Amino acid sequence: MKLLGPFSQIISMRGLPSAGPIGASQLEVIENGGVLVEGDHIKDVGGYNELRSQADVFEEIIEPSVLMPGLIDAHTHICFAGSRAGDYMRRLEGESYLDISASGGGIMSTVRHTRDADKAQLIDGILSRCKRLIGDGITTCEVKSGYGLSLEAEVKMLEAIAEANTKSPVTLVATCLAAHVCPPEFNSQIDYINHLVNDLLPEVVRRNLAKRADIFVERSAFGSESATKYLLTCKQLGLDVVIHADQFTIEGSHLAAEHQVLSADHLEVSDEPSIRAMAKSGVIGVVLPGATLGLGQHFAPARKMLDNGMCVVIASDWNPGSAPMGDLLTQAAVLGAAEKLTMAETLAGMTERAARALRLADRGILTTGKRADMISFPTNDYREILYHQGSMKPNRVWVDGKSY
Ligand code: NIG
Ligand code: FE
Repeated sequence: MKLLGPFSQIISMRGLPSAGPIGASQLEVIENGGVLVEGDHIKDVGGYNELRSQADVFEEIIEPSVLMPGLIDAHTHICFAGSRAGDYMRRLEGESYLDISASGGGIMSTVRHTRDADKAQLIDGILSRCKRLIGDGITTCEVKSGYGLSLEAEVKMLEAIAEANTKSPVTLVATCLAAHVCPPEFNSQIDYINHLVNDLLPEVVRRNLAKRADIFVERSAFGSESATKYLLTCKQLGLDVVIHADQFTIEGSHLAAEHQVLSADHLEVSDEPSIRAMAKSGVIGVVLPGATLGLGQHFAPARKMLDNGMCVVIASDWNPGSAPMGDLLTQAAVLGAAEKLTMAETLAGMTERAARALRLADRGILTTGKRADMISFPTNDYREILYHQGSMKPNRVWVDGKSY
């Protein structure tokens, strides 16, 4: 068995409440810690000196380092082709995201590029983004389809995600977002939803291309009636359901609460009643500061969500339109400063709580039996990680116990 250490501190993320506020005293900090690794999983976590006798191989850590679970980015759109720098420039000159979409830019412009790309090009794009993710300490990343919007192109995207998953150390979790917007080939929202419900979703499930489905509920995308039909079908097919909700107008959060979906993501404009409804239904709130920064909007009310008892997850939303930055740690640190999140809440939102949003029980915590997905930072004080607001990068990353 291999012993890694000694680490100045280990932040295990053990024993945290599954929802609501988290104080600093609830964060387990093991000084002079070690991790026993057996194959691809963790055998034990504790004091380095106490674990020594159980090890026969030693991976010695010489520089001051703080160890924590690998980061989990629970909401991205990193399977795409093309750039939307032109949209970004137009937004800076005062046009709105929704106006740009209505005039042929926005999501549909990425759809055109993604439809034109072949699968190999999409895989290359994902893999080059995965290289950045690993360097930033992200060891698990959710990836949505949603720039295909036809059976053929959505399947191409989901296959690209599956193939990239076999070629990258980052675990990629696919989500079908065929209900991103209604493509121009369909006369009405409900016609397109009928196509998804009757043809596309059953095909995705039959071929096991995704275990999760997402829908963008918004005036420019899908209304409650279409969304309800989609959500119910997804559930019947055994898919976990998440919603792009309350990005510009409040609607999706109430639907999320009514159908008790796994998570509602965005929530920039959510108000007290919508937060209370989601909290009551146990809906996880996934906030996306990268979209706030990309669109120049308000941050989602993460503090209020926690204080109302929600489980709050922080993800990057990395995509070519609303969130081109793709730097989870920086974004989470900035959100934490703006929303007054405790360090424990911010760190949990990218690890233990993010694992819940993806229903991955095998990661997000450093403890016996979990995957040995771990990152360390070049410091002896864990508070330095968020203090540097993302400019301090991990000095080491392990996936399945292997160092990258
Ligand atoms: O999460 N809001 C809808 N979908 C994405 C943006 C996609 C795009 O602009 O290309 C989001 O922000
Ligand atoms: Fe998104």
